[in-house]
Amino acid sequence: MIEPLATERLRLRPLVADDVDRLVDLDADPEVMRYISGGAPTPPDETERIVARAIGHRWLAFDNDGDEFVGWFGLRPSAARDRELGYRLRRACWGRGLATEGARALVDLAFTELDASRVWAQTMTVNTASRRVMEHCGLRLVRTFLTELPEPIAGSEAGDVEYELTRSEWVRTQ
Ligand SMILES: CC(C)(COP(=O)(O)OP(=O)(O)OC[C@H]1O[C@@H](n2cnc3c(N)ncnc32)[C@H](O)[C@@H]1OP(=O)(O)O)[C@@H](O)C(=O)NCCC(=O)NCCS
Repeated sequence: MIEPLATERLRLRPLVADDVDRLVDLDADPEVMRYISGGAPTPPDETERIVARAIGHRWLAFDNDGDEFVGWFGLRPSAARDRELGYRLRRACWGRGLATEGARALVDLAFTELDASRVWAQTMTVNTASRRVMEHCGLRLVRTFLTELPEPIAGSEAGDVEYELTRSEWVRTQ
C-alpha cells in the first residue's frame, strides 16, 4: 500500500473510492482536458472505473495552507519495475509550481521506496506545461511518435512525446 506524503506546500494522501466526485469535477473543466480528450469531460461511470484501477498508485493533493483540493499525482506500475508518472491539477492551481513540486516528490519516492528502475511519462507534443514539469523532474525526451486516434484532437497531428529517467541517471543527481 502507498503512504501519505508531504512536500513544502502540498499534502498528498492515497486515492480512495469515495474520491470519484472530486475527479469527475476535475475532468469537467475543458481546459484541464484539452490535451487529454480535446476538452471533453470524463463520464462519471468511466471515472469510477479509473479510480478503482488507480487505487494503490495515485495520490490526491491538497494545499497545506487552505486545505484546497489541488489535483492528483500518480505512479502507475507498467513493465517490470517501471512507473508511469502522471498528474492533473485544477485550473485554479496552475502556474504556481505545484505540479513540479508534487511530481518531483513522486519521482524521488519511486526510486527510494518503490524500487523503480525507470520513471517515464507521456503527453501530447504541444502540451508545453506538462513537458516542462517532466523536464523539471529530470526526465529527458526519448521519442516523439504518432498515435492513431479514433477522433483526432487539436494538436494531435504533432504526435506525442515520451520522457524517462532511469535509476542510474537519478542516482547521479543525488
Ligand atoms: C500540466 C500541469 C499539471 C502543469 O501544472 P502547473 O502547476 O501549472 O505546473 P508548474 O507551475 O509546475 O509549471 C511547470 C512549467 O510549465 C510552464 N507552463 C505552465 N503553463 C504553461 C502554458 N500554458 N504554456 C507554456 N508553459 C506553461 C511553467 O511556466 C513552468 O515552466 P518554467 O518553470 O520553465 O517556467 C497543469 O497545466 C494541468 O494539470 N494540466 C491539465 C492536465 C494535463 O495536461 N496533465 C498532463 C497530461 S500528461
